Amino acid sequence: MNQRDLSPSPRLQPVFDYHEETKHRFEAFASGPGFLDWATQPDPFRRYAGARLIRLETVAVTDEPRYDAIFTPASQPAAAPVNHHSISQLLYDSLALSAWKRLGETRWALRVNASSGNLHPTEGYLVCGPVTGLCERPMVCHYAAKEHGLEVRAEFDTGLWNTLSAGFPVGTFFVGLTSIHWREAWKYGQRAYRYCMHDAGHALGALGIAAAGLGWRMRLLDEPATDELATLLGTSQPQAAEPEEPDMLLACVPVQQAGELPVLPAAALQAFASLAWQGSPNRLSPSHVDWGIETFAARLRKPRGAIAYEHFTTPPQPCVLPPRPPALRRMIRQRRSAVAMDGQTSLPREDFYHMLGRTLAVPGVVPFAALPWKSHLHLALLVHRVADLPQGLYLLVRDPAQTAALQQALTQADPWRKPPGCPESLPLYCLIETDARAAARQIACQQDIASDGCFSLAMLAEFSGPLARYGPWFYPRLYWEAGMIGQLLYLEAEAAGIRSTGIGCFFDDPMHEVLGIEDHTFQDLYHFTVGGPVEDSRLTTLPAYD
Ligand SMILES: Cc1cc2nc3c(=O)[nH]c(=O)nc-3n(C[C@H](O)[C@H](O)[C@H](O)COP(=O)(O)O)c2cc1C
Repeated sequence: MNQRDLSPSPRLQPVFDYHEETKHRFEAFASGPGFLDWATQPDPFRRYAGARLIRLETVAVTDEPRYDAIFTPASQPAAAPVNHHSISQLLYDSLALSAWKRLGETRWALRVNASSGNLHPTEGYLVCGPVTGLCERPMVCHYAAKEHGLEVRAEFDTGLWNTLSAGFPVGTFFVGLTSIHWREAWKYGQRAYRYCMHDAGHALGALGIAAAGLGWRMRLLDEPATDELATLLGTSQPQAAEPEEPDMLLACVPVQQAGELPVLPAAALQAFASLAWQGSPNRLSPSHVDWGIETFAARLRKPRGAIAYEHFTTPPQPCVLPPRPPALRRMIRQRRSAVAMDGQTSLPREDFYHMLGRTLAVPGVVPFAALPWKSHLHLALLVHRVADLPQGLYLLVRDPAQTAALQQALTQADPWRKPPGCPESLPLYCLIETDARAAARQIACQQDIASDGCFSLAMLAEFSGPLARYGPWFYPRLYWEAGMIGQLLYLEAEAAGIRSTGIGCFFDDPMHEVLGIEDHTFQDLYHFTVGGPVEDSRLTTLPAYD
């Protein structure tokens, strides 16, 4: 097996180097601390001392809209007015705390968006014009999850807001995401950059789904340079010991007006450099270890410019699915990672197909409608316990145009065949019939959750092609798509009455070997498991907010 078959261009070499160096191998894990240094454990909550805090509402969970309704254009809610209540709802359903857990004297918060190791490197920002009940002047705010409030970092005049939002639909506001890499690096060392980008994708998925519940759409605005996002969000100002690296900017628009959106003018973004920024970021740890992540992230900053992204030649078709009763916000707020799977629960075949159908980026359907590029990730599934389906290795081709490339890359597969009862519109194939439980566990760093569930999966990204086409800055974007799929699968599992868990710890090349992948055309970026959970009865659950 030759993982260094390609000689990437010099500009891509650092990406390929990082990707190879941060693979977990049977012989050695990627470089990391190897122990938990509790003395330097980062504070999970960033605050801007001195910035005014606007409290948001903690909104009671409602039966409407139904979870399934937001995925069907005909049944999605009409656009809610933008005001204090709806902004509260959006953040409550996407980036807020969902519970506190207690074990003995120890207490820790869980959130709506999942995060590797519950370390939560992702920070959220709101950039808006005047909003009824929230603010009279346009402002840039940092979202304080523990308080469920907005810290006002800067206010600016309506003229600048009008220039910034010119051509966007009435009711548009912007959401920014940044990462504090140290939070993940503290525990996971060099590989942590990958987890930060998974987490950014989970947050993006959570925001897209929460916005859909309000009749809004999140759309990634990918023309600005990363440096311009830092200026807009105020993270280029003198920072605390732990820098925040801007990841992405989203426009939130009413669903009926989510067509073509204008480009944010460079001059308007530049004007944010001279605002009077309020508040100083808190220090999260007394000392740090440099795992090279800030240097690497700096090499992945996107330059300014609209990109001629590749689109589907044949867009995925929606699977026609019977609607189910669960309420959207109940699913969102009860989402939890399974810490153990029962090794028994069997998933009905229809539910399995239903979940997989949801992961297809059908045009206009959340959460993938936020992305300006076509899907680049495919799912290699290890099916353990799905009723009336043979155990084995399956493949969901999320872009049918990649079928031939995948057939060529997956050299270990038997002839591909459609599984029994599989809807015509679902590009799912059985590649090998086998009991893959032991392999699933071994490849997921010996974690039983990968073998004791109904199925586990690896997210295979088209890798060398998109990186060569776009540039190094597309590397994090592949992980964002992986995180979005993960956040969606979490909710799909809740809706099916079971549970799931993201798996960032896996042995990369051994998984490639199982599939017969011999080069960088496709690479495995993220694993996931779905199954019947075993609750940890030692833990007490407390409400997210008093
Ligand atoms: C990118 C990512 C990687 C993860 N990797 C693992 C893993 O390897 N093993 C595991 O047990 N849980 C893993 N998790 C689950 C997290 O530990 C879990 O999301 C976190 O503890 C917060 O709990 P919650 O999901 O219930 O909110 C991962 C989650 C994410 C988002």
